[in-house]
Amino acid sequence: MVKLIASLLVLAVVAQQAYGDFKSLSKKDSKSFAPVRRNEGKKLKQNNDHGQDRIVKNDEWSGECKGSLEVPEIPKGWMDLKDGCLNGMRHQIQEEINASYQYLAMAAYFARDTVNRQGFAENFFKAAKEEREHGSKLVEYLSMRGQLTDSVSNLITVPTVAKQEWKDGAAALEDALELETKVTRSIRKLIQTCEGKPYNHYHLVDYLTGVYLEEQLHGQRELAGKLVTLKKMMSTHGELGEFLFDKSL
Ligand SMILES: [Fe+2]
Repeated sequence: MVKLIASLLVLAVVAQQAYGDFKSLSKKDSKSFAPVRRNEGKKLKQNNDHGQDRIVKNDEWSGECKGSLEVPEIPKGWMDLKDGCLNGMRHQIQEEINASYQYLAMAAYFARDTVNRQGFAENFFKAAKEEREHGSKLVEYLSMRGQLTDSVSNLITVPTVAKQEWKDGAAALEDALELETKVTRSIRKLIQTCEGKPYNHYHLVDYLTGVYLEEQLHGQRELAGKLVTLKKMMSTHGELGEFLFDKSL
């Protein structure tokens, strides 16, 4: 009998200890698996009265909440794209955007149901997108050189399109070729400015020559070729020649 009572006592002690261990384990687990409410997304540590860290919710945080941070002072020597070369870059960005809008106007004209030259329309929509991308890449370049410090409205203005209707596809291609020639001249001038003293921005010059001029020259040749073919077709077949050329685009 005494043995039985002693065994029961030992069992009770073991069970109590096991229950205590389970409770403390459950508490830990409930912390790590507790659902996070929206305003609890980020939690911060803060010392309590006993010098121990405790987790506080964001909405409990009593510190001052600042809406913006001041831009810290850092050395500025690396931002060496300036004066004439920088202004030339800004001008070139606007030139690309102007070209993009002009192509968009051409695309919109040929896409009209009353004109319905889908080949020309698609070509000009594509050209408008490419010109916009050229402008964006130059903006990215300015950012890379630490010169994107102004708001975009001071960098780019929305252009007014000078012409919105064309006699035929040949007239539009002639305008496109002239537009590309103007952009090419502008890039070459920019290269001259940035290459010479005191700038010597060889990296930029290399980029403009290898990427922009390369594309310009090939683009001009393509437009000139299309224009010659179209004019030949129109000289022998008139509007039918233009219709067939549009289908081939
Ligand atoms: Fe361009």
